Amino acid sequence: MKAIYSLIMVLALVVIATVGAGAAKMQTIFAYCIPGTAFIIFLVGFVCKIISWAKRPVPFRIPTTGGQQQSLDWITQNKWDNPSTGPQTAMRMLLEVLAFRSLFRNTKLTLRHDDGKNPIVAYVSAKWLWLFAILFHYGFFIVVVRHMRLFMQPVPLPIEFLDWSDSILQILTPTIYISDLLLLGGVSLLLLRRLFDAKIRYISLVNDYFPLLLILAIAVSGVYMRYIAKVDIMSIKDVVMGLVTFNYKVPAGVDTSFFVHLFLVSTLLVYFPFSKLMHMGGVFLSPTRNMPNDTRMVHYENVWNDPNVKPHSYAAYEDEFREPMFEAGLPLEKSPEEAA
Ligand code: HEM
Repeated sequence: MKAIYSLIMVLALVVIATVGAGAAKMQTIFAYCIPGTAFIIFLVGFVCKIISWAKRPVPFRIPTTGGQQQSLDWITQNKWDNPSTGPQTAMRMLLEVLAFRSLFRNTKLTLRHDDGKNPIVAYVSAKWLWLFAILFHYGFFIVVVRHMRLFMQPVPLPIEFLDWSDSILQILTPTIYISDLLLLGGVSLLLLRRLFDAKIRYISLVNDYFPLLLILAIAVSGVYMRYIAKVDIMSIKDVVMGLVTFNYKVPAGVDTSFFVHLFLVSTLLVYFPFSKLMHMGGVFLSPTRNMPNDTRMVHYENVWNDPNVKPHSYAAYEDEFREPMFEAGLPLEKSPEEAA
């Protein structure tokens, strides 16, 4: 049901842009007012969220660890899973951000039966999520970087090169971009995983389906523009350059599909800072990942410690409550006789 609600919302966005920019001819609004406002909301929302996260105090070391901590010289430390210095932590972050390393170690709980038909609980490696996520994120990233050719005149050489290498397959006219296949494939597989895996479907919310369907709709409308409608890219570039140079004039002959694409992108921009998509910025601020685990080398003191609150050791606690603990039959380090 939640997937249906999300689909209805995305379809409603398509209808709004088709009617608004197509039938009602509000092209300036859809080409400039809405995208411009959306971009400002995105920027301000993103920066405010990052600042508010960066200001949260983290008085303790709380990194998630998955291997041997630095210890005695003859015990090999797992430097990437359990880093104890800044450079080791930077390496861990780099692998996390570029290779999604924690997803690669994803496991799935399974129930098997041995020969005697006794159930055995086992954790098996589950690489699908990692694979789908890698396809999707790299596809998305390349598409967005490649789009910069619409926003720049002359187009910088690295972007020209990216465009050339991305279309190296030389299939169809205009040539298919590899990143389009990665983006469409990745986002579809992530969506299917959510729809067909009963456990994941059970915990999925509108907040999970909506961004996937919205991004799918952005990609489909883009592909439609390029391969089916074969839009006039020069007049669209005029519109986009107008957005960048504050020269708001929509030339005639811009296909409605462009306004749909842009409206969907604007919705994504507005939605982004308030959604789970903020993991894009949040991953760098996650204390469970960006902190070295050096608790055996550095003494930390909680900045909030009240000096009037004195430490209370277990020995002192037992001294205080030995009698009632003894009467209640609780285990004691020193019996009343030993303590006397
Ligand atoms: C989240 C951001 C965006 C995504 C994921 C996205 C996705 C796509 C995809 C998958 C295509 C198919 C062809 C290609 O890959 O180039 C496409 C085409 C296109 N997009 Fe986007 N897009 C985004 C933002 C924008 C923006 C901001 C604009 C303009 C202001 C835009 C304008 C276009 C145009 C004009 C095409 C047709 C390109 C051609 O015919 O070569 N897109 N988009």
